[in-house]
Amino acid sequence: MELDADTQALAKGGFHCLLCDINVPNQASLEDHLKGRKHQKLRSVRDTRKTQEQHSVFVSGFQRGTTELQLIDHFQRFGPVASVIMDKDQGVYAIVQFNNTESLQVALAEPQHCMAGQRLRVKPRETKEFKYIPKKKQDPSKQQLISLEELTPALCQADTVGEQMQRLVELFELSESERRLRELLVSLLQEIFSEFFPECKVLPFGSSVNSFDIHSCDLDLFLDLENTKTFQAKAKSTAAQAGEGLSEDAQSEDSILSDIDLESATSTEVLELVATVLQKCVPGVHKVQAVTSARRPVVKFIHKESGLQGDISINNRLAVRNTRFLQLCCSLDERLRPLVYAVRYWAKQKQLAGNPCGGGPLLNNYALTLLVIFFLQNRQPPVLPSVNHLKSLAGEEDRCIIDDWDCTFPCDSLTLPASENTEHLCTLLSEFYNFYGQFDFAGAVISPRDGRALPITDFLNSEGDRNPRLGPLNILDPFELCHNVAGNLNERTEQRLRRQCQEAAKYCRSLQYQRKSTKGKVWGLVRLFHQQGGSVASHGQSGEAGADRMIIGIPFKLNALSGDTRKQLQGSGDFRQLWFSEVCGAMLCVLENVLQISCSPVKRVSEEGTKPNASGEQSSHLSETSFNENETKSQELKRKPGFQEANNNEDVHSKVIDSPIASLQDEPQSGVKRPRLSEETPQPSSSKKQRLDPAHPQAAVGWQCTLWHKVWAGRRKVRRDLLKGLKEDSRPDGGSIELESKVTEAIAQQEKEAKVSGAVLEFTLHAEVVGGTEDTRTLAKFTPLVDGSNLFQDFFHFLESFLPRMTGKFLEKSG
Ligand code: UTP
Repeated sequence: MELDADTQALAKGGFHCLLCDINVPNQASLEDHLKGRKHQKLRSVRDTRKTQEQHSVFVSGFQRGTTELQLIDHFQRFGPVASVIMDKDQGVYAIVQFNNTESLQVALAEPQHCMAGQRLRVKPRETKEFKYIPKKKQDPSKQQLISLEELTPALCQADTVGEQMQRLVELFELSESERRLRELLVSLLQEIFSEFFPECKVLPFGSSVNSFDIHSCDLDLFLDLENTKTFQAKAKSTAAQAGEGLSEDAQSEDSILSDIDLESATSTEVLELVATVLQKCVPGVHKVQAVTSARRPVVKFIHKESGLQGDISINNRLAVRNTRFLQLCCSLDERLRPLVYAVRYWAKQKQLAGNPCGGGPLLNNYALTLLVIFFLQNRQPPVLPSVNHLKSLAGEEDRCIIDDWDCTFPCDSLTLPASENTEHLCTLLSEFYNFYGQFDFAGAVISPRDGRALPITDFLNSEGDRNPRLGPLNILDPFELCHNVAGNLNERTEQRLRRQCQEAAKYCRSLQYQRKSTKGKVWGLVRLFHQQGGSVASHGQSGEAGADRMIIGIPFKLNALSGDTRKQLQGSGDFRQLWFSEVCGAMLCVLENVLQISCSPVKRVSEEGTKPNASGEQSSHLSETSFNENETKSQELKRKPGFQEANNNEDVHSKVIDSPIASLQDEPQSGVKRPRLSEETPQPSSSKKQRLDPAHPQAAVGWQCTLWHKVWAGRRKVRRDLLKGLKEDSRPDGGSIELESKVTEAIAQQEKEAKVSGAVLEFTLHAEVVGGTEDTRTLAKFTPLVDGSNLFQDFFHFLESFLPRMTGKFLEKSG
């Protein structure tokens, strides 16, 4: 037999397959091998790769942050583009693959490729020898969502956005066999657990059964032991009456119930027992682990054969009920399901959802689903009713109270009237983004129970267990009304969510979203799902581009406010303005007291901001700042005595300031007088105290600031050394105002010893409250004035996390 290019005869006898990198002992085995699945598969992969190489070009020279879509748009003029693969860092190179060699030739023949003013380098791809690298067996539990590359052809073939959304559901939902496997596993667990926990129930909840299932979703189970507890109690009392031990069932040697009293046992004890049963008695499961520290403690396990991941909890009756609610919503209106699938995929693509290990600052699927439901409750006419409305339609048999929360709603959707809303999926998705792009997340609480947003001021005086923990985004659970299902979100995620919604809303207004491309271009959902350039994705992070880079947002954070301040804000018509004056005061304390920065108020030109409105108050909308002495009458910051008391570190005090108000002067206060960096630096307009009158609150104020020390440099080490040098009982709390002031003082001292003097930087700080219904936060805009050594970037990077954190601390103290 003649050997093909993939095989070699071995000197010691036998053959070597170069493609599969294996040896076979003789001719017959070689023939078998060459016909075999593995060899054939690798040949076909190699052929595909070769074709891909022959159809693609290597592109470089584009701007950083260029998107795949932009490249598709550019290269599509030479012929249909099959795919674009960007390098990981998105900015150095890309591989653009055409559908055929003709298009490739046309693209290569183009003398000059220009995109966004940049000249692109376009060359044929280098051909690489195909090498088989055995793949590590992937843990099936870690299966990824279907990639956008795989989705693109299927979605682009659809004729309408609505159809694309339906296809998305079909591509993601569990297959019949996957469903069946889950059902079988639940029955198996029910059977085995019943042996050990008589009369228990194993109830699935979450994505496996809530109608929003996807291939890789886990199996959430609630092990209901209520009946088992009754069973155990009865058995005990019968035994006690008879003067014996436990009844027959519960007393046998191997009865688990003889080891534990379910009524008095802790959930950790019960979960550990559940883990033992799973591990020892359920065939086909492995990696059993009790995670008792989570908000909802669970036992995790994996079904070996399928890789299916399961979680068993023992106190999650509410989740079973809210799963039932999601099912009801789906059966009430068939548009909910495709909308949720589209929003979930979009959120995952934009890194807004999907915390890798459960906890994290991103949205979870439940929260996303509630966002969609709430949006549909707010359409005119509504697509879905509020939970309260559903409750009013429920019968006596539907009554359901869990942990004292009213979870009543009708079980049968057929008894309920259909929605009069007839909007198409395409419009609804676009309106979803409009709705949340403009939503006042900081000032309102999303309540699917009420079907409307509740003002945050309703919650300001809230204390006790039955009140939600408010954060940057507040979505009240429809039943457990003290649970903010987005309570894990941080400021950054909320900011990105809003921005991404705004971007999506903008895109949805374009024809590329609404109409199928006649030229075979990507359109509709596919374009929506594509990652955008870095500007939005990284908003609020240190890598932001352009003017935005110098802005730090201080969010409205209820938790950061003292009880007194909350009372003051509660019911106030303009709580934003009052809050703004608090934040400005606190921010200034951070700069002056903690970082020893000199700050002097500057006056500003404002086209609208200084004009009194009809009611004689300042308008809250201000134009871009430019500082000018003569124009406006700025007002003084309202400063709280608590701010001064907060900083009770004597060393710092003697060197810094006695009163924050006193700090509003031209000269530095940090001990040594230092010359200004530049004589041309605009001088502060006034050394007079400024007062921010609460009756006439101002929406923007500005300061000119001088930084005297490199307060960011080596801060962590200085902090560590300081703490080491103090006795344990006299150590200030980590990250406290007192400690941070001491750290600055130590840095100042080091600089003094090193005979470093003079101002490090000068900059202006312009603070304004962003009001209206879009946002509620104080934006601190920094503009470097003199920065000879290019230090401002480093300083700003440090401030990005330090300023919001420390401002929060001062706000807490201000009461
Ligand atoms: P998930 O957020 O995990 O959603 O919540 P999911 O649809 O199951 O998605 P994956 O595939 O597991 O990520 C699972 C269930 O947990 C309950 C809800 O019943 C939800 O359906 N849950 C979740 C709550 O009750 N409250 C929460 O805050 C989160």
